[in-house]
Amino acid sequence: MRHLLGIDGWRREEIETLLDRAEAHLPGGSASSSILQGKVVANLFFEDSTRTRTSFEIAAKSLGAQVLNWTAQGSSVSKGETLLDTVRNIEATGPVALVIRHRSSGAPHLAARHVRCAVINAGDGTHEHPSQALLDAFTLRRHWGPLDGRTVLIVGDILHSRVARSNILCLTALGARVVVCGPPTLLPVGLKDMGAEVTTKLDEALPHADAVMCLRLQVERQTESFFPSTREFARLFGLNPARSDRMKPGALIMHPGPINRGVELAPAVADGARSVILEQVANGVAVRRAILEVCS
Ligand code: CP
Repeated sequence: MRHLLGIDGWRREEIETLLDRAEAHLPGGSASSSILQGKVVANLFFEDSTRTRTSFEIAAKSLGAQVLNWTAQGSSVSKGETLLDTVRNIEATGPVALVIRHRSSGAPHLAARHVRCAVINAGDGTHEHPSQALLDAFTLRRHWGPLDGRTVLIVGDILHSRVARSNILCLTALGARVVVCGPPTLLPVGLKDMGAEVTTKLDEALPHADAVMCLRLQVERQTESFFPSTREFARLFGLNPARSDRMKPGALIMHPGPINRGVELAPAVADGARSVILEQVANGVAVRRAILEVCS
């Protein structure tokens, strides 16, 4: 694997091989910590991030790499430098991999056509966030073993969510049943073609889910009003303690972050016994170590 641009097109065995490798990258695992010794990994974040950028940085450093953390803020982007000029100039400094986040769907794919080093998609617009889906699948697999027959309910702003797209592709490839739920205005066309079932009735779907993945309302990507108010959204689609109580015993609650507390997820639920949100973050380091090992 030279690049990681998306989950689209991956076969089950390929995903499982990567997740198996991530097991070896957990703390105390058998993977060598000098795989990237003497190499440089460049984080190119044209859009803000807390989890993904720090996770790739920790993963790369823990494999012996040096990490260049470039952000658009404070760069020559403000002077009009293009994406490709930025990418080519950073590549000229010698990294083995570029980890790229961009607000435009397809930006890492464009970059990958013009560089020789590996390109890893750290989230492109509303398109894909493959490392997030892999760490989510990894987290579920560590709880359940194989995902066959399990139901994952993805709730919220599906329309603008690259996490939803990558997760639908990844979880269905691994044998899970994926149901997506949100207001009709935030459910894009094509979900069924991707293998997901679709509903607008959270309270009907909730008791059948083995895991619920809540997604943030991406107000920064919304160009029009998709529902009357965030209060209305929280009332109809927010996961609150009463809804959490109606979930199956042992069912898990996930969120890729950042959380809009009190909107898609009540604080007591985000921090409650069902929540594996911080496990997702912790597992992200092992999964990204495996990605860097395979791509670099
Ligand atoms: N899950 C995720 O992509 O979070 P960040 O935006 O903080 O990287």
